[in-house]
Parts: sequence; C-alpha cells; structure tokens
Amino acid sequence: MLKSRKTQVVIIGGGPSGLMLCHMLNHRGIDATVLERKSKSYVLQRIRAGVLEAGTVQLLKDEGLGARMDSEGHSHDALHIAWQGFDPFAIDTNLHTGKKMVAYGQTQITEDLYNALERQGADLVMEAEDVEVHEPDSESPFVTYVSDGQTHKLECDYIAGCDGFHGASRRAIPDSILKTYERVYPFGWLGIMSETPPLKDITYAHHPERGFALASQRSQSLSRYYIQCPVTDDLDSWSDERFWDEIKARFPPELAAQIVSGPSIEKSIAPLRSFVAEPMRYGRLFLAGDAAHIVPPTGAKGLNLAFSDVFYLCRALTEQISNNNQRYLDEYSQTALRRVWTNVRISWWLTGLLHIFPDDTGFDKKIRENEFFHLRKSERAQAALAEQVVGVPFDY
Ligand code: APR
Ligand code: PHB
Repeated sequence: MLKSRKTQVVIIGGGPSGLMLCHMLNHRGIDATVLERKSKSYVLQRIRAGVLEAGTVQLLKDEGLGARMDSEGHSHDALHIAWQGFDPFAIDTNLHTGKKMVAYGQTQITEDLYNALERQGADLVMEAEDVEVHEPDSESPFVTYVSDGQTHKLECDYIAGCDGFHGASRRAIPDSILKTYERVYPFGWLGIMSETPPLKDITYAHHPERGFALASQRSQSLSRYYIQCPVTDDLDSWSDERFWDEIKARFPPELAAQIVSGPSIEKSIAPLRSFVAEPMRYGRLFLAGDAAHIVPPTGAKGLNLAFSDVFYLCRALTEQISNNNQRYLDEYSQTALRRVWTNVRISWWLTGLLHIFPDDTGFDKKIRENEFFHLRKSERAQAALAEQVVGVPFDY
C-alpha cells in the first residue's frame, strides 16, 4: 500500500547542501523532509576538501553552527605556493581582503549538521531508495521513495534537488530545457590521509615535469596530501612509499624535508571536472550544490559554492512561503549561477596554473611559468586572486 503524507519542502540528498538547507528552513519555521539514499555512517565517512571561505564561516556562525568550527578549525589566511625552482611564497589573503578563511573539514561540518538536525527532531529519512521527482512543473509536485520495503509518497510545495552530481533531481529537468557545460581534465588527484603532523601551512606545489601536489591538513595530527596522476592509474600501483617519494619530489627540497610520512589510512583517486547545468530551476524544483555544478578541487570551492546556493535558496523559499514574495524564487537560478561561474572560473584557472597537462607544448609551459612569475611579482595580481580565493560576497 502507498503511504502518503505532506511537507512544505522535500529535500533530496543529505549531503552538506541538503542538510544545511533543512537546518536553515527549520529555523525559519518551514517544514522540510530530507531523503538520503545512503546511511548516516556512509555519508560521514566521505572525505572532502576543508577550506571555508569567509562567507561560509559567517553563514555557519549565523545559523548557530560555529561552536566546533571555532574551537577545532584554524584560521587560514594565505595561499602558499611552492613552485619548483623559486622560493616558496604566500599571498596574504587577509591582508588583501580583510577577511578570514578557516580550515575545517567537510566531514566535521556534516557531523555538526546531523547533530543539530537530530537535536531539533528534523525529518530525515536515511536509506531512502528509488527517489523519484513527479510533476515538478505543476502546482502540486510530489516525490516517491521506498523505505523499509514500502513505497512512500511525499506531497509538497517545493522540491530542492541537493543530491549531488549523480542524483535523480537534475534528470527530472527535460533535456530540451537543461543546458550543460563541461570540462573534463586529463588527470585525477591521488589523495591520502595519514596520521602524521601536517606542514604548517596548506601549500600548493608545482613541478614543471612531475606536476601538481598539495599538502593539506585536518588537524595537528592528521594530514591530507594530494598529487595529480593519470586518472587511469591503478591504486594498487601507488604504494605508500611510492606516494611519499613522489610528493617529496614535487615540493622544493626545503619543504619536502618537512613532510612527515607514515602509513596511509585512506587512499583514493578522484577525477577532475568542471560542470554546470542551467537553469537551476524547473517549475517547483530547485537544484543546489553538486546536483547543479562540479568544480575541480583546486581551491576547495565545492562546499563553499554549495552553501551559497543554499543561502539563496533558503532566502527565496522563506520569502515566498512566509511573505508571499516570489521575487527571490524567480531570480534564484540567475543569482546562484553568477556566483557559480565566478567559482568555476577561479577553480579552472588555479587548476591550469598549478597542473601539467599531457598535451602541454613548450609554449604552454612558458606561459604557465610566466603567469606564476607575474603573480609572484604583482601585488595587484595577488589582490585579485585573494579576493576570489577568500570568496566573493553572496550579493556579488
Ligand atoms: N536519492 C537520495 N539521495 C541521493 C540520491 C538519490 N537518488 N543521489 C544522491 N543522493 C545523496 C548522496 O548519497 C549524497 O549524500 O545526495 C547527497 C549529495 O551530497 P554531495 O554529493 O556531497 O553534494 P552536496 O550536498 O551538494 O555537497 C557539495 O560536497 O562533493 C562535495 O565538492 C562538493 O564540497 C561540495 C559538496
Ligand atoms: C583539502 O584539504 O582537502 C583541500 C585543501 C585545499 C584545496 C583542495 C583540497 O585547494
């Protein structure tokens, strides 16, 4: 038998976007139900980037989610670049913008969100299977899903598609309406986590023959490192020893000497892609986060972009539902996409600057080196980059 009930907003996906939207809507007295395909433990074991733009930090604080970030995160006020053959240098993002970024893991944010939602008694359905969007372009859309072997129907006023790149929501928008833009990069990131003390600063490295490397961190005793590698590489061919040798070879010797190696506790290869789907709205269905766009991890913009979408979408739904003002809902896709493209561009630019490409010509390499040289020399170039790394304001 079909079980049917009603809510104001159905949120498909319980990743950072869906959880944050549910938290924000509940706070404003709007009913929302989150349908997440996986279990909570599965969602919480995903490892993702952890650098928060100033606007994301402020949003978390404003929404009552800042306590653990304030005590466990640490301020991150510079973009450190170690280019083989040059002295490492840092762009002081705080100096150029007056704004502060924070290094705090996405896993921790997701945990904080689950804890807050559970405390509030939010309506979360975990392990919801076969989630399907119905009649999104009508006045009475609904979503069906299977839970505990039973099919459920959720009638609603609005649907938020927060189900990531492989989710069901974007597919509910007809091909004749959806336009997609994509760049797939010819390499991936091999990432490892190790219980070793990290380098003092999150540092991006470039080696003209070996390629990109990144030293990042999750805490004083937990390090996250990445190197670019062919996306077709077999993980088994990357022993810990080979990884440490390679990453040290990509950093200038004085920094390589400070990298503390140890056994990896996680190792994976992720592809790099830029992707945008437009528009982010179809009738009463609104896309947010990775469901609508993907950026390569360089610059750690993914989560920040997901949260700016959620900020715009929460404002739009609240204005419509509580104040009968439809202006923000009508402008949602356009407003969100402006900021999306800003971050798509900066993560594409940083990826191009810091990586090597299989079809690079000598000319490409010279241009890349000169781009770096200009950045190193020019205060104005640094200020322009700092503004985008710290994150353009939500009202950009
Ligand atoms: N039904 C229900 N849930 C689904 C479905 C589906 N058909 N498909 C996917 N999901 C769930 C996934 O299991 C996941 O938990 O939707 C969630 C989407 O989460 P994310 O992929 O993390 O996307 P988002 O919440 O938008 O977060 C964006 O995460 O990937 C990073 O770089 C990205 O940092 C950014 C952030
Ligand atoms: C990370 O810590 O995972 C990270 C940090 C900075 C980036 C990308 C990823 O640019």
